[in-house]
Amino acid sequence: MEPRLGGPVSGENIPPVDYLSWYIPRLQENRPYDLSQSGFAYDWDVDIDTMEMLKFWKKGEQPADWVAERYGVESEQVCVTHGACQAISLAILAALPSNKPRAVGVEMPSFAVVSQCARLLGCEVIPFHRGPNEGEWKLNRSEVSEILPRVGVIVLTPVMNPTGEMISEDDQNWLIEATQSAGVNIVSDEVYLDSTKGTDFYRPMFEMSNNSISINSLTKTYGLGPLRFGWLIGPQSMIQNARNAFQNMQGLTSAPSMSIAGSIFPRLDEALDAMWDTRRENLPKLVELVKSHGIDWNPPPFGIFGAFSIGVDAVQAMAEYGKPLGLLATPGGMFHSELRNHLRICWGSDPQEFENALPILSKFLTSIQEGNH
Ligand SMILES: Cc1ncc(COP(=O)(O)O)c(C=O)c1O
Repeated sequence: MEPRLGGPVSGENIPPVDYLSWYIPRLQENRPYDLSQSGFAYDWDVDIDTMEMLKFWKKGEQPADWVAERYGVESEQVCVTHGACQAISLAILAALPSNKPRAVGVEMPSFAVVSQCARLLGCEVIPFHRGPNEGEWKLNRSEVSEILPRVGVIVLTPVMNPTGEMISEDDQNWLIEATQSAGVNIVSDEVYLDSTKGTDFYRPMFEMSNNSISINSLTKTYGLGPLRFGWLIGPQSMIQNARNAFQNMQGLTSAPSMSIAGSIFPRLDEALDAMWDTRRENLPKLVELVKSHGIDWNPPPFGIFGAFSIGVDAVQAMAEYGKPLGLLATPGGMFHSELRNHLRICWGSDPQEFENALPILSKFLTSIQEGNH
C-alpha cells in the first residue's frame, strides 16, 4: 500500500496510487463517522452567478496577484495551478536542472502523489527518510548526503502526512545548505503549512532559501479541495519554467475555479481562525479518549490531524471493526510500510459531528484491544 518508488514509467507500467484506490470507494460509502479527512471543513457561503464565472478570463484579473499579495512576494514569483497535486509535477519539472541526472530524491513517509509522480515525468525516484520512529521525526541526514550527487531535485512535505509533524528548524536549515552546495533544488509541498501561521513553526521554504519552490493550495487549511486551486512560489527564473510547463500541459486555468477563489481570497484568514477554534474544541476530547485506551501519543502543536499506533495493521482493523461500526479513518501504511499500525485521525470536522464519532472510535479501539486477547 505504500508509495511505489522506482524508475521512469509509462503505459501499463504506470502505478496506481494505492491509497486513493483504497480511499475513494470507502469515502463514497459515506460512512456516518468519518475521521478520514486531512483538511478543514469550512463553509465559505459564496454565491456567484454561473455565467459570470465563465467570463473570468475577460476581466483582466491575475490570480497570481492574489497569492503574491497574501504571501508578500512579487507576482512573477507565483504560478497558479489546479491544486497542489498538479503543482508538484510542474515544480519538479521547473526545478530539475537540465545538466543534472533526471532523478528526484523524495521524502518518506509521504502521500503517494508526491513521491510517485516524478516517475511519470521520466525520473528515477530515490527515497530518503524523516522518521518513522516513535517520538521524534528526524531527517536522516546521511541518507540525504548519500543521494545528493545522484539527483537534481529533493522533494519533501515539511508538515508531514500522515503524522502532522513539522520538520525541525535545524533539519530544515541543514537541508537548505546541503542542497545549495550540491547544486540541487528543493520542491516543498506546504499544503498543511498554513495551519502553523502565526507560530514559530511557520517556515515556508520560499522565505528561507533561493533554491526552493514552495507548493500550496486552498485544499487543506482552507477547505476548498473541489476548487482545484493551488500555486507555486519561488525564484522568478524557476517560476517562469513552471509557467511554461503549465502552458504546455494545461493551457489556461479553469475560469469558474478562479472566480470562486477570487471571491474568497481576501477572507482566507477567517478559515485559519475557525480552524484554531475547532482544534481547541475537538482535540482535548480526542487526547483524553486515546489516553483512556492506554495509547501513548502527543499530538502535533498545530493543525487538525495526527497519527498514533493502534498496535495492529490499520487496513485490516478498518475492514474488520471500522466498517461494521460505520467508521472511516486513514491507515498509516498508505504513507510508509513501517506506519502500518498507525491510524490517522482528523479533528477538523464540525464539533457536533466529531463528538458523535468519538464513542464509535472508542468502540473500535476496544474491539481491537479485545481482539488482541
Ligand atoms: C502532502 C499532500 N500534498 C498534496 C495533496 C493534495 O492537494 P490538492 O488537493 O491541492 O491537489 C495532499 C492531499 O492529501 C497531500 O496530503
